[in-house]
Amino acid sequence: MSPESIAHPKDLLTVGEVTARTGVAPSALRFYEAEGLITAERNRGNQRLYRRHMLRRISLILAARRLGIPLADVAEIFTTLPSDEAPSHRDWVRVSRLWKSQLEDRRRYIMNLERQLTACIGCGCLSMRSCDLLNPDDRLRTRGVGPVRLDESSARDAPA
Ligand code: FES
Repeated sequence: MSPESIAHPKDLLTVGEVTARTGVAPSALRFYEAEGLITAERNRGNQRLYRRHMLRRISLILAARRLGIPLADVAEIFTTLPSDEAPSHRDWVRVSRLWKSQLEDRRRYIMNLERQLTACIGCGCLSMRSCDLLNPDDRLRTRGVGPVRLDESSARDAPA
C-alpha cells in the first residue's frame, strides 16, 4: 500500500463513500446535517464532502437510534464536540460521561419495566389484577401522567 492510500481522519469523503461505509442513505445524511449532528463541506461543484471523522459521529447516531435515544439528545451531546476537526480523546471522554449517565437512566428504566411488566405500572388502564391493589380507581393519576409506578420506581433507583 502506498503512503497516499493510507486513510487519514482529515480525508474528505463523498456522499457515496459515506453511504457505502455507514449504510446510511444520502437523505438521512442531509437530515443529520440539517439537525446539526454532522457537518459537511462543499467542493467547487457544490457537492457535499464529509471529513472522515464524521463516520464516528454517524456510527454513534446509529448506535443511539438502536438504543432508542432521541436524536435531540444526541445533538445536545454533540454540541460539546468540535465540528471543524476530529474530536480529541478528551472530547470523547467528556461525551462518554454525559452519554453514560443517560444510558444508566435508560438501563434503570428498562430493568424496572422488566420487573413490572406483569404487574400494575400505574398507567390508568386498570386492566391487570394488581391494579385493584396498586392503583385502585386510578388514584395514581393525582401523582402524574403516564406509567406513574414505573416512573416513580425508576426515579427512586436513580443515584442521589
Ligand atoms: S397496569 Fe395500567 S393502571 Fe395498572
